[in-house]
Amino acid sequence: MSEPLVLGIESSCDETGVGIVRGRDLLANQVASSVELHARFGGVVPEVASRAHLEAMVPTLERALADADIDPGELDAVAVTAGPGLMGALVVGVAAAKACALAWGKPLYGLNHLAGHVAVDLVDHGEVPTPCIALLVSGGHTNLLRVDDIASSITEIGTTIDDAAGEAYDKVARVLGLPYPGGPVIDKAATGDPIKINFPRGLTARKDLEKHRWDFSFSGLKTAVARWVETRERDGEEFELGDVAASFQEAVCDVLTAKAIDACVEHGIEHLLIGGGVAANSRLRSLLAERAAVAGVELRTPRPILCTDNGAMIAALGAEVVRRGLPPSAADLGATSSLPASRITL
Ligand code: KG4
Ligand code: ZN
Repeated sequence: MSEPLVLGIESSCDETGVGIVRGRDLLANQVASSVELHARFGGVVPEVASRAHLEAMVPTLERALADADIDPGELDAVAVTAGPGLMGALVVGVAAAKACALAWGKPLYGLNHLAGHVAVDLVDHGEVPTPCIALLVSGGHTNLLRVDDIASSITEIGTTIDDAAGEAYDKVARVLGLPYPGGPVIDKAATGDPIKINFPRGLTARKDLEKHRWDFSFSGLKTAVARWVETRERDGEEFELGDVAASFQEAVCDVLTAKAIDACVEHGIEHLLIGGGVAANSRLRSLLAERAAVAGVELRTPRPILCTDNGAMIAALGAEVVRRGLPPSAADLGATSSLPASRITL
């Protein structure tokens, strides 16, 4: 089947997403976010997210079907994020997808969320050139992946050993008295001098590189920012918030871009793709573009709206899986909260 019509459901974190694609054409991408419900807690509260998914699922499905102007009977498949993610949140999406597949008599495909972040670029820029390296950075994940085939061959080459990149943004925002989610706020506040404060670059020292060449660590950076601010406040010393934000952001983006570009060069891979909420960061995008140009790496950056969690990414991946004739999931498909990037279909 060359242009399968696929509906994709995403509910792994705080976004209820339903996307519909025909082959690589995006027909609908409806997202209902519960981010505002989590703001006062400074992070996603799993139980609150699950309940919000329950409420948003049917209206989001209806809006996506109306946008695409299709009848469910026309669909070739229903795809859903089966993992990784928050267990309670995933279960809502999987249950909804099973109900749709059963009611409409369609095959069901349980898919990997991380592979979805890579596949979404298909609807923006067409065929994802392989092999490629993908850098996925969000509140929940920080992954460096080698993609040889989007539907069947993804290998994780690096990940975070503690906090995710977006989580570091969110925690540092709290330290600076800025609201949640911290990423966009720090991005905007980072108007100062990025080399004013030399914050640590995690896992870049020679001894760390031996064991963690492609891994990341942001927890030490977060602590360093907190200590720096605490010390100034204790001593009654004035400082520019813009300098702290810019210096923190530079430390994050320096490490992410250096490792991603080095991974391309050392693996002899010419294409680099980014995804996840932090991929919307202005400094990450500009520094990556600079370093990619120097290294001769071709950069693929999906629109920011497609970088954050959405249903289109799952529909896009589903269409590739169906196109290759891979078998659907079993009727007892379950949600899996921790799932390696290499397990693309379940
Ligand atoms: O992909 P996403 O919407 O949800 C998941 O976590 O899966 O990513 C949300 C994360 C949050 O941590 C948020 O602070 C971060 O992405 N983020 C950003 C920016 N926009 C969102 N981080 C840095 N700069 C941004 N412009
Ligand atoms: Zn995600």
